[in-house]
Amino acid sequence: MLAKILGAAIQAPCGGNEQNWLFVVVRSDEQRRRLGEIYRRAGAILASWYEKADKPGHMSEGEYRRFLTAGLYLHQHLADAPVLVVACLRLEALASAPADHAREPQHAMFDSVPWMAGASIYPAVQNIMLACRALGLGTVLTTLHGLHEEEMREVLGLPIEYTTWALLPIGYPTDKFGPVKRKPVTEVAYRDRFGSPWPK
Ligand SMILES: Cc1cc2nc3c(=O)[nH]c(=O)nc-3n(C[C@H](O)[C@H](O)[C@H](O)COP(=O)(O)O)c2cc1C
Repeated sequence: MLAKILGAAIQAPCGGNEQNWLFVVVRSDEQRRRLGEIYRRAGAILASWYEKADKPGHMSEGEYRRFLTAGLYLHQHLADAPVLVVACLRLEALASAPADHAREPQHAMFDSVPWMAGASIYPAVQNIMLACRALGLGTVLTTLHGLHEEEMREVLGLPIEYTTWALLPIGYPTDKFGPVKRKPVTEVAYRDRFGSPWPK
């Protein structure tokens, strides 16, 4: 199953076809415990933020409570999942190049627009999620661990040029899948320009 999941991940598109991705598949009890502990501490930071946050308008009170309850549960139980996949990217711009080293255009672009790098890993992450669903496995895209990126890198032994972009706990779901609820297309799409309604 993991071979199929990783096989799906590497079919994804990425900028410049660089394929600088790396997937650390964490299965050992000790490594999962350490990652779970990082995620728990990151969760505590986020939980205090959510206490002050407003509920998104499109969610009912019940949906919002379920969203919070599920997220908080994961803070405490990440390591219960038998597999944790950490999706990483190698960003050469982060490597210790001399200050006068000529920057490749793409590296310069990541320096000025760092979030653009994520566009080269999240399609692979989505493929992992779709492969899990097809295999009857549950997962969720999480990013909270990024609050403690240095510790993540230390636990995983990642060299300096690698950064983590997503942590996916994978296991058999104890409940049923979806369906998920989303705002309708007519609320989130326009025709030709902003404000011109998408036909119903
Ligand atoms: C960029 C991104 C970051 C996310 N980070 C987290 C996270 O750290 N922890 C978590 O439990 N879920 C995380 N999620 C999952 C979202 O909370 C979830 O997709 C959203 O609430 C919709 O839930 P649903 O797909 O179950 O309907 C993340 C999703 C995305 C796209």
